[in-house]
Amino acid sequence: MRDDLFLRACKGAVTDRVPVWFMRQAGRSLPEYRAVRERHTILQVCRTPELAAEVTLQPVRRLGVDAAILFSDIVVPLQAMGVELDIAPGVGPVIASPIRSARDADRLRPLVPEEGVPFVLETVSALVEQLDVPLVGFAGAPFTLASYLVEGRPSRDHARTKALMLSDPPTWHKLMDRLSEAILACLRAQVRAGAAAVQLFDSWAGSLGPREYAAHVAPAVTRILSGLEDMGVPRIHFGVGTGELLELMAGTGTDVMGIDWRVPLSRARARLGDDVVLQGNLDPALCLAPFEVVRDKAQEVLAETGGRRHVFNLGHGVLPETDPDTLARLVDVVHEWRVR
Ligand code: CP3
Repeated sequence: MRDDLFLRACKGAVTDRVPVWFMRQAGRSLPEYRAVRERHTILQVCRTPELAAEVTLQPVRRLGVDAAILFSDIVVPLQAMGVELDIAPGVGPVIASPIRSARDADRLRPLVPEEGVPFVLETVSALVEQLDVPLVGFAGAPFTLASYLVEGRPSRDHARTKALMLSDPPTWHKLMDRLSEAILACLRAQVRAGAAAVQLFDSWAGSLGPREYAAHVAPAVTRILSGLEDMGVPRIHFGVGTGELLELMAGTGTDVMGIDWRVPLSRARARLGDDVVLQGNLDPALCLAPFEVVRDKAQEVLAETGGRRHVFNLGHGVLPETDPDTLARLVDVVHEWRVR
């Protein structure tokens, strides 16, 4: 590996430069990705190691980022657990038969990654041969996956999911147990195949209040993150709109806490203390502004941490409308900035 700046920063070392990568750096903002997608669906790309590896590499070549993120989707392991689903263009994941009862939850089969998602592991192995930066493996967290399984499609309020959580705790806990076991197996298999770090995406956990998160979600996340501890890779935990949950989310045993753009990193640092590394948090929408604005705002984000115990990223994924040249220039801005 050419450069382990990203891994050193994730482990809390003080580095002279701040590492940078972007959630959704492989995706619709890149013309070379759109060219692949003209011929293949997202799920085809995810299930074909040559294609998944190619689109994972595209942003690494073009942008000069310090880490690659595996191209896949959080719903891919669910298919291997027996869930019939599709990713509908412009909509997102759609589940054929949503899970709303104990009997529905019983349909979820245990995940044996080598049998259920061999193509993911082949993609990881192929990538580590070719990459000169670390590869981040990932999975969706139990609440975010449950929200798709229960609602059946993307949802704004996650109302049915919360109703199930509060009205039928045994079914909810069965769902959390099965999902956390599968996610842990999937992440461990990615690390065995060569992923150098893992990120757990609890993208929609921010729809919960702290009491509900602590009682009904945090235990499952803790099982996953503590179950990875012996593997020695940095564990990154991320959610959107999670300002009020940060202490609880960091308390599940994460090494790096992903922060969205709503919480200044200085405030996240004051709340979480010095033991956790912070990842974030430029508002992805700002990348559509003139570059001088992007540069000033990125420098503001860097000044929030002084570049210490900080992995630069956006506060959520790259928007499809983003000009890739903006991202490449943003990488340069971060790399030129000197840690204080
Ligand atoms: O440009 C792109 O967004 C890439 C292509 C794509 C992926 N999944 C790959 C992916 C698309 C269009 C999807 C469908 C999908 N799946 C959506 C978007 C719907 C739309 O049209 O905008 C959503 C929200 C999902 C579910 C999902 N997948 C979530 C909640 C997450 C966690 C990250 C997040 O955005 O909050 C994913 C992970 C995911 N899907 C990744 C990729 C390449 C990995 C994460 C990353 O690259 O940072």
